[in-house]
Amino acid sequence: MVNHNSSSIPAPHGGKLVNRFTKRDTKGMLSVEVTPDLRNDIENIADGIFSPLEGFVGQEDFQSIVKTGRLKNGLAWTIPIVLDVDENTGAKIRDAGQVALSEGGKQFAILSVEEVYPFNKLEVAKAIYQTDDPKHPGVAKTTGMKNLLVGGRVDVVERLPDSQLRKHRKAPSETRAEIKNNGWKTVVGFQTRNVPHVAHEMLQKAALNLFDGLFVNPLIGKKKEGDFKDEVILGAYETLIDNYYQKQRAMFVTLHTEMRYAGPKEAIHHAIMRKNFGCSHFIVGRDHAGVGNYYHPFASQAIFADYPELGITPVFFPAFYYCKKCIGYANERICPHGPDMREELSGTKMRNMVSSGEIPPPHLMRPEIAKLIVSFKDPFV
Ligand code: ADX
Repeated sequence: MVNHNSSSIPAPHGGKLVNRFTKRDTKGMLSVEVTPDLRNDIENIADGIFSPLEGFVGQEDFQSIVKTGRLKNGLAWTIPIVLDVDENTGAKIRDAGQVALSEGGKQFAILSVEEVYPFNKLEVAKAIYQTDDPKHPGVAKTTGMKNLLVGGRVDVVERLPDSQLRKHRKAPSETRAEIKNNGWKTVVGFQTRNVPHVAHEMLQKAALNLFDGLFVNPLIGKKKEGDFKDEVILGAYETLIDNYYQKQRAMFVTLHTEMRYAGPKEAIHHAIMRKNFGCSHFIVGRDHAGVGNYYHPFASQAIFADYPELGITPVFFPAFYYCKKCIGYANERICPHGPDMREELSGTKMRNMVSSGEIPPPHLMRPEIAKLIVSFKDPFV
């Protein structure tokens, strides 16, 4: 709270911020090619965004994450971070010791191979996504993985080059230093995969009434078909912050990882990453990290009861809507008017409006943002 005297900024998850960069080189090492998405996650490991992970999880941790939502040492962890390879590559690297990881044919990291192991894709999909429906993007991804997983620490030799999309990327060491410098004792993190509608903004501002700083942290990376493209999300947030935010109280940083649509399990993962960035609190609203109707709209809040020791405090919000009678944003906890007065807001609704050529009205989406979105020929993935 604003009037707290002592800092509530948590230590990184597991106690210390991981740093896995090295000056060693990869000359002469066998290469294993990874996808651009995985390369982002490898850099996230190196920067400590996934602390305490120092690499790809081994079999025992993997099984423990799948079965209990925790690492084998009991620490909360709900989404396995893994490298999948085919049988051929698995056989080649099993006893190779160190191999180079490459992307687009360029080596950028060293993997110290500790184990190569099989896994049951359907069992994993059911445990993480709570469904085996192949239409769920996470299930489709899991069943499409190669047959073996490789566990082992990684050391990054070369970062991804700077780009327009990465200009707001920061490492936890930097965000933690900024939080300290700003004198913030409490910071509330906000995850999003969408362009901001006014309900998103109202959630963030409702939280900012209670905490010293707001950590606005959109997810940039692979998303399902029909979601907004990264450049649209980025531009929309830059516009929102420029026009509507108190700059000295909001920190804008992008998180480069893929969206997994795992609902509750991903909500815990999202919170852990924001803890590593230095947030003391984390906003969880309606259908956090959900897709379709796979999860109860508040399942992503309920799961936090299983992790009382998480070390970052969730801030739960009910569904926000625009109430025509209140003439403003409201929710069932504060507004007595019936459903006929409500205009519900969701990312899906905004996407549908934009794709049918309709410009969302200013009480649902800020005009500067609506204008920006329609200026893109094709704003969707
Ligand atoms: S998410 O997949 O990243 O969770 P989105 O970007 O739409 O999707 O949501 C970001 C955060 O805002 C999540 O915590 C979500 O629960 C919350 N949220 C989005 N819309 C609403 C709403 N109308 N009412 C309450 N919370 C919402």
